[in-house]
Amino acid sequence: MDSLFARLSIALLLIFATLGGGFFIIEQWSTRQYYEELTQRLNAPIAMYVTDHAPLIINGKVNYDEMDRLAQQTMMVNPTAEVYLLDPTGHILSHALPPNTVQLDKVDIEPLQALIDNAEPMPIRGLDPRNPDRTKIFSAHPVMTDGQLQGYLYVILGGRKYDELASSLRGSYVGKVSFSAIIALVIAAFLAGLLVLNLLTGRLTRLTNAVQAFTDSDFAIPNSKAISELQASKSEPTSRDEISRLTTAVNAMANKIEEQFNGLKETDRLRRELINNVSHDLRTPLASMLGYVDTLLLKNGQLRSAERQHYLKIVRKHTSRLEVMIGDLFELSKLEAGSVQPCMESFPLAELLQDVCQEFELEATQRDIDITFNKEPTATLVYADIALVQRVLENLLRNALNSTTNGGRISLELKALADKVAVAVVDTGCGIPADKLDTIFERFYSSGTSRSLGVGPDNGSSGLGLAIVKRILDLHGCRITVSSIVDKGSCFEFELPMARLA
Ligand SMILES: Nc1ncnc2c1ncn2[C@@H]1O[C@H](COP(=O)(O)OP(=O)(O)O)[C@@H](O)[C@H]1O
Ligand SMILES: [Mg+2]
Repeated sequence: MDSLFARLSIALLLIFATLGGGFFIIEQWSTRQYYEELTQRLNAPIAMYVTDHAPLIINGKVNYDEMDRLAQQTMMVNPTAEVYLLDPTGHILSHALPPNTVQLDKVDIEPLQALIDNAEPMPIRGLDPRNPDRTKIFSAHPVMTDGQLQGYLYVILGGRKYDELASSLRGSYVGKVSFSAIIALVIAAFLAGLLVLNLLTGRLTRLTNAVQAFTDSDFAIPNSKAISELQASKSEPTSRDEISRLTTAVNAMANKIEEQFNGLKETDRLRRELINNVSHDLRTPLASMLGYVDTLLLKNGQLRSAERQHYLKIVRKHTSRLEVMIGDLFELSKLEAGSVQPCMESFPLAELLQDVCQEFELEATQRDIDITFNKEPTATLVYADIALVQRVLENLLRNALNSTTNGGRISLELKALADKVAVAVVDTGCGIPADKLDTIFERFYSSGTSRSLGVGPDNGSSGLGLAIVKRILDLHGCRITVSSIVDKGSCFEFELPMARLA
């Protein structure tokens, strides 16, 4: 009873049964109406013939003999007819029926006048004096003498005889046949309805099963049975009815769920990888520091001051590397969690670039690296978060310095485009292998080249610098691109939105 199919079937059965019943009642009523109209039309002249045949009222007195004779004659011609003579107000003056069977002595003459004047559509019914609770069709005609209305001849059509016959025919063949035909029709329509319902709910059931199978598959198996079943049920109906639209929607939902599920799995994999890399990258400097500190503690007395100084410098180097790494990790995790909201403002980018160059000037001079800054003469204002853009430039310059051998060159280029400002950081360093270009923006990617170059201080390296750069530019809705040739150099380029001058 819980199933939609069962509920719809019951509703359908009730509707068809009501329709069938209603149709049967209407059919019975209209058949009767048809019969009565036909009979009344056919027999309407009877009263006229009778009245015209002989005077029924002579000098205000009823001609009983003539009345009896005519009534007998009429009943012989039409056995269901019962003849009454009425005065102008409707009182029964005479009839030829057994006296105790007539229960009324007066009938309403309004219907008689309606029939005589042809004022109403047939069938018109009048009171039956032998059966006062029922009205019957009749024929009537005024009885006139010398142009004076003397009364009416009132002929009930379908009198007692008709009633007896009708009740004996109630269970007749015709009645039974029409009743059975209607029942058969209702059953046939109901079965056809069931078939249609079955087709429609069958599709719903298949869809439900597919969704259930998809749920059971834990959304995990790509191209699983559930998905392909969904796909199959999608291609099944060619129409665009509600069920096929629902199927398409469920399909789209399933694909989206699968996509998001895969996204979550990927995030989970990256998180695991991150923890792995973090622990590895933290452990290496820590282990080294521990070794040197132990040596210092154990051999404190035996160490020369230069040696002690050397060990302490190494410990210092690892400590600052750890500091950079933890700082970068913290920053990246904030950027990835979306808790960093860029504080956008208009500022001159050229000045910021100048400041960042100055930060690295000392190291560059020491290593005989030439940092040049080419800017177009236009004073370009960009709309961005100044602190975050500074971080981007620092990371890129730090990488350039780390990968460039002493005596190399680094140039910063600034170019104003239509509504953007392009920045390029170009170096003549070791370059990046082409197959690694896609991966350098991932966390912890480190080709190891710059470190193995042995150039620059180790303190700029965490393997997170470019990941941070990419996240910051993402926040600004900008992209960063890289081109590089091994042993020739690299070029990192990005664009920032130009500030609109109000
Ligand atoms: N200008 C560059 N020239 C050559 N290699 C680079 C350059 N910038 C980045 N790389 C490579 O990309 C890697 C990732 O850079 P980054 O994310 O900043 O981490 P890190 O600098 O700490 O290693 C670097 O280890 C280096 O191998
Ligand atoms: Mg770096």
